[in-house]
Amino acid sequence: MTVTTRRATIDADAVFKLLELGDYLLPYTIRAVCLLGVADALAHGPLPMATLAEATGTHEPTLRKTMEYLATRDVFAVDADGEVALTPLSDLLRAEHPYSARDIFLSPVACTRAMEGLDEAIRTGGPAFDAVHGRSLWDHLKSHPDDGEAFDRVMSGVTGMELVAILRACDWRRFGSIVDVGGGNGGFLASLLKRVRNARGVLFDLPGVVAHADEQFATAGVSDRAEVVPGSFLEGPIPAGADAYVLKRILYSWSDDEAVGILGRVRAAMHPQSRLFIMEAGRHGEEPPVLARRMDLLMHTLTAGGARTLAEQSALLDRAGLRLVRSMPTPMFPIIEAQPA
Ligand SMILES: C[S@@+](CC[C@H](N)C(=O)[O-])C[C@H]1O[C@@H](n2cnc3c(N)ncnc32)[C@H](O)[C@@H]1O
Repeated sequence: MTVTTRRATIDADAVFKLLELGDYLLPYTIRAVCLLGVADALAHGPLPMATLAEATGTHEPTLRKTMEYLATRDVFAVDADGEVALTPLSDLLRAEHPYSARDIFLSPVACTRAMEGLDEAIRTGGPAFDAVHGRSLWDHLKSHPDDGEAFDRVMSGVTGMELVAILRACDWRRFGSIVDVGGGNGGFLASLLKRVRNARGVLFDLPGVVAHADEQFATAGVSDRAEVVPGSFLEGPIPAGADAYVLKRILYSWSDDEAVGILGRVRAAMHPQSRLFIMEAGRHGEEPPVLARRMDLLMHTLTAGGARTLAEQSALLDRAGLRLVRSMPTPMFPIIEAQPA
């Protein structure tokens, strides 16, 4: 709709769309309801507003505003009597949902605050996170254990969905041993070992990050087939001689030279028949552009990394003495398989 005044023409649709894009409130409101367990309280069916407020220990009039606002975005449904129900979106915010996305909204505030440094990042090419916090994301997470644990949970938060994509893309039963390099808190490796019953697994990540990985393995019932090796993929050797190596959401956080260094250390650990799987958002062309472009800029915001094209990834492999075997598109991200050159 275009409204013409004496001075100028106002494109009301453009104004509305722009205001929608500038809605900072939405992700933080979803974060708040995740912290308060609102979706969990609705797991067994719709509830009147007053009952929901009581169940979540919240202030009913403010909860009503919150639910009505989120209902405008289909995150919850509120009927004329004020009864609140889950929608397909808020169902995914339940902690117990098998593909729960709840932890994604509980990302450390330091990561969302990093976006305040985007102007600086765009000027200089450096990471926005460092511009705001005066140190790298990894140093911050090391010195703030609560944020470190929250970050690890965000990382393993989408593991359920990723695992489905990864299991469909490749037959993992052909591997007797798997090393998850930079595998975080072990959530992904534990789930993978649970499905691939003949395999043994090694989790390799920084000492503080793997400190509680044993609990993940015990919960998944795979402790007898899982080992934890603390270390840095920037310096030390990576556990050698496994059939498969995984670099999931690692390389896009590092510069080309650093990524070649990491790949070279993985290459040194591989035997001639080992395979390497690289799994992360890329710019291969098959993925939805919104996702690829968002991840590209998000990685730059946090670490000055970015999503790469297949040609760029292939060039890094070459430099590290590896060879691209194939690239497998999945509904989530492309998976690259490589082997020693
Ligand atoms: C984006 S997270 C991905 C975690 C996991 N692979 C996943 O996909 O959920 C990056 C991981 O790299 C790890 N990392 C960062 N620097 C590292 C280093 N120098 N050596 C080993 N791991 C490191 C972090 O601790 C973190 O677990």
